[in-house]
Parts: sequence; C-alpha cells; structure tokens
Amino acid sequence: MIDTRPTLYLSRLLPDPVMAIVRERFQLVQEPLDVLPAPPALREGLCRANAAIVTLGDLIDAETIHAATRLKILANYAVGYNNIDLAAAQVRGLIVTNTPDVLTDATADLTWALILATARRVVEGDALVRSGQWTGWSPTQLMGAEVSGKILGIIGMGRIGQAVAQRAVGFRMPVRYHTRQPNAATSLPREWEHRSLHDLLGEADVVTIHLPLTPATHHLIGACELAWMKPTAFIINTARGPIVDEGALVNALKTEIIAGAGLDVYEQEPTIHSALAELKQVVLLPHLGSATLHARVQMGLVCLKNIQAVLEGRLAPNQVT
Ligand code: DGY
Repeated sequence: MIDTRPTLYLSRLLPDPVMAIVRERFQLVQEPLDVLPAPPALREGLCRANAAIVTLGDLIDAETIHAATRLKILANYAVGYNNIDLAAAQVRGLIVTNTPDVLTDATADLTWALILATARRVVEGDALVRSGQWTGWSPTQLMGAEVSGKILGIIGMGRIGQAVAQRAVGFRMPVRYHTRQPNAATSLPREWEHRSLHDLLGEADVVTIHLPLTPATHHLIGACELAWMKPTAFIINTARGPIVDEGALVNALKTEIIAGAGLDVYEQEPTIHSALAELKQVVLLPHLGSATLHARVQMGLVCLKNIQAVLEGRLAPNQVT
C-alpha cells in the first residue's frame, strides 16, 4: 500500500511521547539521532521533507531555505528563532513557527535556580561536600549574598521576563525592568518600575536577561554596560549567549567589576570562553532553560500543531514569518 502520510524531517530525537505521535502521523525522511546533524545532513533532510522540526543549534541559512523547495513549514523547537534566516524564509514563502508560552514557567524557574545558585554559592558547596574536604559547619564558610529584599533588574519584559518578575514576590524583591518599548508595557503591575538600561544596571542587585537575540541585542551587554553595574551585583543569562559580550564578562568578573554570573547560554555553544570555567563566582549550565519533560513534550506538541495547520492549509498558530 502506498504511504500517503506527509514527509517530516526531524533534526533531533524528541521526547518519547512526541516521537510516538510523529511516527504515527508522518513518514520520517531520516531516522533522527540525539546529536546535532552536520550541515549537509540537515540540508538533505530539509530538501526531502514537506515539513520539518529543527532545533536552536540548526543554523538554517538562505541557501538551504531556497534549496528546500518541497518544504512548507519549518517548526523551530524553541521560542527563539535567531538560528533561521527569516528574511530568506519570507522571500521564499516558507512558514516558520516557534514554541512560545509552553516553556515560560520552565525557563523562569531555571532563572531563579541560577539566581540562587550564584548568590548562595550552591555549586561550590556541592563540590566541597563531594570532595571529602568538608570539616563541618563554620560561621565563615562559603558566605554568599542575600537576595531577599534586594533589587531585581529584568532586561526584556516579555512572557519569560514577567514570569521571573512574578516569582520575585516571595523574595520581597522590588522589580525594575528595561524594555525597548516601554509604552507596550502599560499593562504591567505598577510596582514594577521601568528604567533606562543605564539606570537599571546601576540600581539592580541581580540583573537577568530575557530578550530575543537580534542584531539590536547582540552584545547589548558589553564592557561599558558591565561597568555600570554594582560591584556586588550578579548577572544572569538564560536568553541567548551573544546578548552578552563573553570576553567583557570574563574581564568584569576577573577584575571584580561585578560579583558573579549565572549562565545557561553562551556566545558559541557548546564552546565556552576558556576562562569562564576557572571562575568560582560563575555558575554554568548547559542551556537547560526549557529542559523539563513537561515543557519539552509541550514544545513538540506545539510544533506538531503548527505543522498540521499548515499541511491542512490553515494558518499556523505560532507563525513568526
Ligand atoms: C528557546 O526555546 O529559545 C530556549 O532557549 C530552548 O531551551
């Protein structure tokens, strides 16, 4: 019997509940692996499929987009879509979708995990206990910074920025935020106060970044901006690595211009600036923002919903082109 199911390219293996649906509804053009495909394999897969689910590590350039003539939809398994040449997709009429909302809580929770881990030296404490060198409780051991009651500065007040702000209530942390379109933020609670980037960086004890990566946000935080921060302040990034100039950050940490950093994202993932791993005042995570089973399954379901809509000739709910 002829298989009439649409063809799908999956650049990575997705969680089991998503794979079960994928295998039922689609013909896979290649069996997905749990590693990033090499660019030729990525391009070949995209060229053979009617629809594709790709991840943030897959760089999809104009050449690939124009070569993939059968492809109707590129469902990005992420909320950020800086890995895709959107202008080329628009020219070619290729629909690109993302996965907003379903990973907001997971990413906001992880942001708080990084805030607390960085300020309270959680990773150093874990290492000490595991090393067998811990000699018992001490009044002066691994003293960290108190975050309760301190000022939380949020750069970018989209869904994730707001979810991070909501969680500040339990820590009695006044929220200051910076957004490039303050007028669009009129529905935000009045107690969250808008600041210029300069003032926010100067006032906050914890600065956390929740912006998309665009040409305008690339290296938004560099040496000059880090120098505006308090020497006791921490910076947290769970958005995209290139928003922060990693070299400038290393320098600011080494020279104690700021107190510490909690990073989930890097300029050249999975490579990190060699000096970062040597700095104790830094907590480094491997891009885990959305890494809960719940969020990752929902992200897959959102991709499938968008694909189904497009293949049936309907509007994709999360179209970004
Ligand atoms: C996203 O969705 O953009 C996240 O970075 C993935 O974890």
